[in-house]
Amino acid sequence: MILLLFGAPGSGKGTQSGLLVSRDGFVQISTGDLLRSAVTAGTSLGKDAKGFMDRGDLVPDRVVIGLVQELVREKIAHGFNRFIFDGFPRTLAQAHSLNEILNNLALQVDHAIFIDVDRAGLVKRLTGRRVCSSCSAVYHIENKPSAVVGLCDICGSNLVIRSDDREDVISSRLENYDATAHALKNYYGSFGKLVEVNGDKCVEEVYKSIVSSTGIVKG
Ligand code: AP5
Repeated sequence: MILLLFGAPGSGKGTQSGLLVSRDGFVQISTGDLLRSAVTAGTSLGKDAKGFMDRGDLVPDRVVIGLVQELVREKIAHGFNRFIFDGFPRTLAQAHSLNEILNNLALQVDHAIFIDVDRAGLVKRLTGRRVCSSCSAVYHIENKPSAVVGLCDICGSNLVIRSDDREDVISSRLENYDATAHALKNYYGSFGKLVEVNGDKCVEEVYKSIVSSTGIVKG
């Protein structure tokens, strides 16, 4: 089964992907995580991507598509066939490339899940988000605090604020999202693949909506 998760920054894509991985046996392909890893590792791709990410701009299509293609092929070679794409595609060019990548592997997108969240709540979610500097677990200072302030419950490492969770960068990320989301919704809607879920509910309720509207069975 192939699922796409899309929605505005802070809509809960990463949170829901984490649940689908741990409970339902999906492999998560998050272009945001892949790019952040490349930045941290200081690869040339990471150095190129950093400027775009720090400004809240989209990284060029060819870079992101190349990363996804490589990882999908690697996972398929290892026998995985349940994927959740988190934050990819973000442009129509990426959507067309994903179709091509999947078609070549005799796979196709089953559902494109759009997590709809009220705009006013997004900034609060993003400015209150804390992420583990080591294992990337995600917290929120009010909605999902760690047991010990500033430390990850899972590995005990320091929690940090993501560099693009500053209010000025958040504005650009939201603008970029608005510029592309409509076309993607129309695109997947035209194939009858679009599923819309209310992301303003609590994490568990959103998860239940995703499971019930896509008919996921445990992998
Ligand atoms: P990316 O990492 O994909 O960031 P994003 O799309 O801006 O989304 P976020 O990761 O900020 O939010 P999320 O929806 O995953 O929310 P989360 O679950 O963490 O991309 C970063 C950058 O990389 C982009 O700006 C771009 O530069 C580049 N990039 C990535 N993909 C690209 C692509 N395909 N093409 C080009 N460039 C690309 O939740 C947020 C907070 O809310 C957390 O604190 C969480 O605990 C809390 N929360 C979650 N769900 C709930 C809930 N239901 N109720 C209350 N709180 C909740």
